[in-house]
Amino acid sequence: MRDESYILILAGHETTASALSWSFYHLSRNPEVRERLEKEIDEVLGGQPPTPADYRNLPYARAVLDETLRLTPSLYIVGRTALEDCEIGGYHIPKGTAVQPCWRIPQRSEAHFPEADRFKPERWLEPQPPDRPKHAYAPFGGGARHCIGHGYAKMEVVYTLAAVCRRWRLEVISDQYPEVNSMGNYKMKNGLPVKLIAREP
Ligand code: HEM
Repeated sequence: MRDESYILILAGHETTASALSWSFYHLSRNPEVRERLEKEIDEVLGGQPPTPADYRNLPYARAVLDETLRLTPSLYIVGRTALEDCEIGGYHIPKGTAVQPCWRIPQRSEAHFPEADRFKPERWLEPQPPDRPKHAYAPFGGGARHCIGHGYAKMEVVYTLAAVCRRWRLEVISDQYPEVNSMGNYKMKNGLPVKLIAREP
């Protein structure tokens, strides 16, 4: 029971909450992105609260989430056990070794993502390079243990972003990069203090 509850909270709640917090962080640091997002939300929602049907009409909001999960993936390390002897990056990995792939490294690589350290949601609106390795971007994991909640999680975050940004601007108060309390889940240690600014109706 304890293990099941822990996974439910970590996998289903902390990840989504973390993705939302980092989205608001990046939006506050990149006002031109936030303005474009607000424009899309205003045009699509027409002043009404979002409905599930709006999801497909919010491509820029979806790109904001994709880019948030590239730079600051909610889960950035996963655990695996090598089932057989293999070689990775010139290192011999004997069968039975515990291996921890870290998504953040390829996701911040210039080789796969030009201007890798910049928050650029636009990059997700273009066709993606066909030669990019499949797991160079894998915020929801890969293989047999790929996130079973990923479709739901994306809807949840985009819908919440639309609902909040329709009415509010969140200005991050501190100039410092948030302190991270990291145990595989890239979570802000002290939350994200913000100033709430009401948008014009
Ligand atoms: C932005 C939100 C989310 C992110 C970034 C995320 C990320 C991930 C990642 C990277 C894994 C793979 C772990 C591994 O390979 O060992 C995973 C697994 C999993 N996720 Fe998510 N997740 C999110 C939301 C959700 C939600 C909303 C649910 C449930 C409603 C969920 C349920 C699960 C479960 C049950 C697994 C384990 C699957 C298995 O081991 O077979 N996740 N998630």
